[in-house]
Amino acid sequence: MREKIKELFAEIEDFKADTKENVEHFRINLLSKKGKISVLFDEFKTLGPEMKKEVGQRLNELKNKAQEKLDSLKEKFGNNDTSIAADTDHTMPGELTAIGSRHPVSIVRNQIIEIFSRLGFTVSDGPEMEDDWHNFSALNFPENHPARDMQDTFFIDDENKISLRTHTSSVQVRVMENSKPPIRTISPGRVYRNEAISARAHCFFHQVEGLYIDKNVSFADLKQALLYFSKEMFGPETEIRLRPSYFPFTEPSAEMDISCPFCSGKGCNICKGSGWVEILGCGMVDPSVLENSKIDSSKYSGYAFGMGIERVTMLKYQVNDLRLFSENDLRFLEQFKSAI
Ligand code: PHE
Repeated sequence: MREKIKELFAEIEDFKADTKENVEHFRINLLSKKGKISVLFDEFKTLGPEMKKEVGQRLNELKNKAQEKLDSLKEKFGNNDTSIAADTDHTMPGELTAIGSRHPVSIVRNQIIEIFSRLGFTVSDGPEMEDDWHNFSALNFPENHPARDMQDTFFIDDENKISLRTHTSSVQVRVMENSKPPIRTISPGRVYRNEAISARAHCFFHQVEGLYIDKNVSFADLKQALLYFSKEMFGPETEIRLRPSYFPFTEPSAEMDISCPFCSGKGCNICKGSGWVEILGCGMVDPSVLENSKIDSSKYSGYAFGMGIERVTMLKYQVNDLRLFSENDLRFLEQFKSAI
């Protein structure tokens, strides 16, 4: 080993370079990972302690010497980066890497979150596998309500009544159970329904549901929040109308339409000539739902609403088939690059 070190010292001493390539050769030969000095370091590891003491210092000196020589050679030949071939044209344009784009459902979800955050809404999350209490019972679904039926719900564990959540109202129950009013939150998330897949229905989709509970919350507050949302999402000319409806967990309940964003309410084939398109369900939280979550309904009232994110996306970006959202066709997804 001592001999080898000595030889390499001499080799370094004697080395002369006249081109950049020579310098690179010197580096590879001695200092690269598989170079002669690294090989010696590997060998060094196998020596006994006595020998290590003796040889170690010399070996380090050798490495330093080689590095110093390399540095001075590099300086002499100008370009520090000797590994780049001299004939590389640095003025050539680089190759563009294709960057991905956010999924349209994510883009619209983020827009919805952003708009409601301006009204003071926080974001809440909950499990996709839900028990009967949070998905149905606490929300006033009667024992024989069709939504509990096999036709609508994917059951996971019949015995314990665990299913995939059919709406994110389940998250609202969890929030009501775990916090005290005032509550102002939205819950975006994926939901599942046992439906045949078509251009207008899918077995999973995404929702954003909103909940506001405080003293003296009125239907007027609900209407104003939804009007603000609609104008921010679909443009300042957008109008809304509320039609009476039914949900087990709200009373009174309504469905909201917006003026058709395609024809500005004049009537087209998207709105089937009516000038209006349905966008969400809403209502005042039923007092018994508040009581189920231990909120005093004589003191507090609240409103709730829920919308499908795919539906909003379809209306905003003129997508006519729900299936496109889950097919991962790049020709479809790439069209949303500029929407981020
Ligand atoms: N949970 C309802 C649905 O999934 C939507 C909704 C939410 C309606 C809140 C009213 C109030 O269809």
